[in-house]
This record gives sequence, C-alpha cells and structure tokens, in this order.
Amino acid sequence: MIHLKTLFTEQAKVQYPIICGAMYPCSNPELIAAVSEAGGLGIVQPLSLVYVHGYEFKKGLAKIRELTQKPIGMNVIVEKNSKIYEDRMKKWVDEAIEAGCRFFVTALGNPKWVLDKVKAVGGYVYHDVTEKKWALKVLDYGVDGLICVNNRAGGHAGTQTAETLIQELSVFKIPLVCAGGIGDEKDFVSALKLGYAGVQMGTRFIATSDCNSHSDYKEAILKAEEEDIVKTERITGVPLSVIRTPYVDKVGLKVGPISKLLFKYRRTRHWIRFLYNLRAVAAMKKTALKGVSTKDYYQAGKSVHGIERIESVKAIVERFVSEAGK
Ligand SMILES: Cc1cc2nc3c(=O)[nH]c(=O)nc-3n(C[C@H](O)[C@H](O)[C@H](O)COP(=O)(O)O)c2cc1C
Repeated sequence: MIHLKTLFTEQAKVQYPIICGAMYPCSNPELIAAVSEAGGLGIVQPLSLVYVHGYEFKKGLAKIRELTQKPIGMNVIVEKNSKIYEDRMKKWVDEAIEAGCRFFVTALGNPKWVLDKVKAVGGYVYHDVTEKKWALKVLDYGVDGLICVNNRAGGHAGTQTAETLIQELSVFKIPLVCAGGIGDEKDFVSALKLGYAGVQMGTRFIATSDCNSHSDYKEAILKAEEEDIVKTERITGVPLSVIRTPYVDKVGLKVGPISKLLFKYRRTRHWIRFLYNLRAVAAMKKTALKGVSTKDYYQAGKSVHGIERIESVKAIVERFVSEAGK
C-alpha cells in the first residue's frame, strides 16, 4: 500500500498526487475540471484556453469553476518574451489569483515575478526542471517544489531518467513531481515508490472522453508504441516529443542549416524562436482540433505504452488510486 497523502497534496489541497499537466493545445476547460473534480489537479494553459478554446481568460476560468469548485492550477511560461506577452501573462496571473487559484507551475525562465505575486496570497509555485543545474537557478527564489521532466515526457522532454532526477534533486528537500512516462497505474505506483510526491501526466489525459482533441489524435496515441515516439526540432526549434508518422519521416527531425545558425546566435535566437513558435502554435491547434492533414504532428510521450483505450478521467484516477491501495 502506497501513501497518497504527500507534501504536494497538502500544498495543492487535493486528494490525490496526480496533476494533469498544462498542454497547448489540449487543455480544454472540461479536461482541467474533470481532473480536479476526480481529486487530482487540473492545470490551466492560458494560451490554450484563450487562443485554442476561444475563451476570454477570466470567462474560461469561470467556465472551469462552473464544472468544479475544487482547486485548479495555472501554467506560466516565464521565458523572456515581448512586453505584450509579459504584460498579458501578469494580468492573467492576477486574474487567476482573484479567481482563487493558489497553485502555479512555471517553466522556461525566471519565476521570480510569479513567486512575488503568489507568495503574497499564500499560494505555491512549482517549477519545471530537466536537470539539477536548472533547479539550482530557481531554488534561491524560493520555489516550493519541482516538476521533474524526464526523458520519457511528452512536450519538451528532458534528457535524464526519472530515477536519476530523483537521486539528484532529492537533496533539496522539497516535493518532487515526476513528469513523463506515466501511462498506467503501475507507472504511477512506481513513481511514488521512487519517492516522488506526485505525478504530472499529459499524454494519458489526451486519450480521454474529457479531452476535446480530435479522435484521430487519440487513436494515434492508442496505436503508438514507445518506439514510435521521436524527438523533432522542426516544430519549435528545440526537441519536442511526437508520434512518428509518414510526414515526420518525410521531413526529418532536424532543422535546416540556416535555422540552425539562427538558433545558435544570441541575437537571432529570440526571433527565430518567435517565428517557429508562431508557426507551431497554428499547426498544433489545427492537428489537435481538426484531425489528420498531410502536416500532422501529434505530440505525445513514451507513456503511450500503457494507454490502451479512451476512458474518462474519473475512471483513470480511480484505477490509479485503487492500485496504490493494494
Ligand atoms: C500535447 C502536449 C502539450 C504540452 N504543452 C505544455 C505546455 O504548454 N506547458 C508545459 O509546461 N508543459 C506542456 N507539456 C508537458 C506536460 O505538461 C507534461 O509535463 C508531460 O506531458 C508529461 O509527460 P507525459 O505526456 O508522458 O505524461 C505538454 C505535453 C503534451 C503531450
């Protein structure tokens, strides 16, 4: 029997140590609410809520609140960006705090301004890390926990295994959440046995009846095996885990020589990233919502190995919890 009460569940005020990670473009309000309602923590991806699912940010939060009164979290990508992006993100964080959100997951940069706002209201901030060197950069700011993104994760995967990450990061004595590779209840229990205070899943929650993504995408996740997950630079310029399709084979996994040069130099890196992201955002939205085209990229992690059918979020959470209780 595994204990499901951890420092993470205490801080996030949830029943079970299960997070549905932010997913652009798959985080629809119904999915987020379903995970929180089932006793886990659904995380809002603000760009997905507004630009994919078409809600004005505050109204999107209100929609989630209609579906659940339980705690929800918010993802804040704190990467250096345009002033317009940064101001908008600050406004959204204020609105989320006003709406009662007290758990934030920051990624890709300096989380200090988020911590300043969230700590002032007694909330918690966990930061995404892939290696110890990134953890060392954010610990001084006072983050409460780390989302340890391993080499099996969907989205921008890390390079290290879940085992290595916990070995290296447990010295910091703050809650560690395992992100990547959790596809079934056995993976969940193994992560908790390793000492993680919770898991963050993405891919498993796409293949649910609560996620609005296209059925072609969900079917691709069910069919895929672990070996079908490859990392491509061609979408955002940095390796992103996707399911191997004929299109992925055709275009290859690497960026061309000119883009490579532009990514290399500090001065041009910001602009080429911006252009790639703009293109990626449109392509991913189209694939997730409208299904197959000749330019398909289905983001998914190696957790596809344990995903055999489309289920409700509630059924998945219940099965995971029951396995932990054995
Ligand atoms: C389709 C997709 C989109 C994602 N988008 C984001 C995002 O916008 N922000 C973020 O911090 N993580 C993002 N992630 C990472 C997830 O939040 C989570 O950490 C990851 O999916 C865990 O690995 P798993 O897919 O093996 O469960 C994304 C993952 C997927 C599969």
